Amino acid sequence: MAKVTVLGAAGGIGQPLSLLMKQSHLVSHLALYDIVNVPGVAADLSHIDTPALVTGHLGPDQLGDALKGAQLVIIPAGIPRKPGMSRDELFKVNAGIVRDLATAAATHCPKAFMCIISNPVNSTVPIVAEVFKKHGVYDPKRLFGVTTLDVVRANTFLASVTGTTPSNSTRVPVVGGHAGVTIIPLFSRAPASLRSQLPEQQLKDLTHRVQYGGDEVVKAKDGAGSATLSMAFAGARFANALLRAVVEGASGVVEPSFVPLEADPLNGETVKKDCDNLEFFAVEVELGAEGTRRIHQLGELSPYEKEMVRNATPELHASIKKGIEFVAASK
Ligand code: NAD
Ligand code: LMR
Repeated sequence: MAKVTVLGAAGGIGQPLSLLMKQSHLVSHLALYDIVNVPGVAADLSHIDTPALVTGHLGPDQLGDALKGAQLVIIPAGIPRKPGMSRDELFKVNAGIVRDLATAAATHCPKAFMCIISNPVNSTVPIVAEVFKKHGVYDPKRLFGVTTLDVVRANTFLASVTGTTPSNSTRVPVVGGHAGVTIIPLFSRAPASLRSQLPEQQLKDLTHRVQYGGDEVVKAKDGAGSATLSMAFAGARFANALLRAVVEGASGVVEPSFVPLEADPLNGETVKKDCDNLEFFAVEVELGAEGTRRIHQLGELSPYEKEMVRNATPELHASIKKGIEFVAASK
């Protein structure tokens, strides 16, 4: 069993995510950190009769205690979008938040697996990588941008247009990144019986809905934030998958994630060749005791999917560079 720390635990994602992690039999200690309201959230969750000990940690003075001994750190701290905003517009606030939380993690739990939810993921993951490098504790196999929600959406939306029930066997990979055109669902990998039900226009509409699923929620919430409940579900799915691989030694655990491609030198190099030499890319990742065990290659893509990869790479290059330069410019 593992100590899991949630940074931003009192927020819209943090609360339901913490609730879901409190239910995990793989968690021995759930440490909740935020700069507001976290004592109440921790007291509330601590009454649930599952094994995990719950502790609350409020403000920077208590951040070290929240992180000490953590094997898994999940970061949903930061501001969400309002209608009309891009994820990149969150950078000016969230980049500093993620940099400072990563600095604390590099200091207090340098071997922890880091799961980054805060947007823009395409930049915040490179920020964490650079902070860990600065501290001399970087292990690319232990860093993950959480893109599970894109796969959850692709599976749900595919089921809704084909009149089927979403299930693990209908899940398609979503590669690239986590913003608009960088989100690339590979519906060519859907089971043949479903794929054959997707005429070209419907495939394009479905792809667009996955790419802009986040905007759908932002619009519906009308100024009250972005996806929180589906994100908590997706974040818990990813964290539990990682815990199954790390704590239980489960094999064959595969989840999508935006990862440093150097985490798997062999297959990472092949993916890099397919995506204009990007250092980070969302791919299917096989998880193991040390984190990333194997990155799945992109494999055969349809002409439409190849075009999407080509369209995504300039934005991904820019977002990754922005994160790297932000840390380089920080004291
Ligand atoms: P929210 O505003 O409801 O919650 C954010 C929490 O972070 C708040 O409790 C706030 O106090 C806390 N916080 C702010 N600064 C902090 C700091 N320095 N240290 C610790 N905690 C701090 O927002 P939310 O809806 O939970 O979204 C959080 C982030 O997750 C946003 O950036 C959003 O865009 C992102 N998000 C990502 C995905 C994804 O698929 N990766 C999906 C949904 C949302
Ligand atoms: C999402 O995909 O729902 C998140 O990235 C939040 C957002 O801003 O859309």
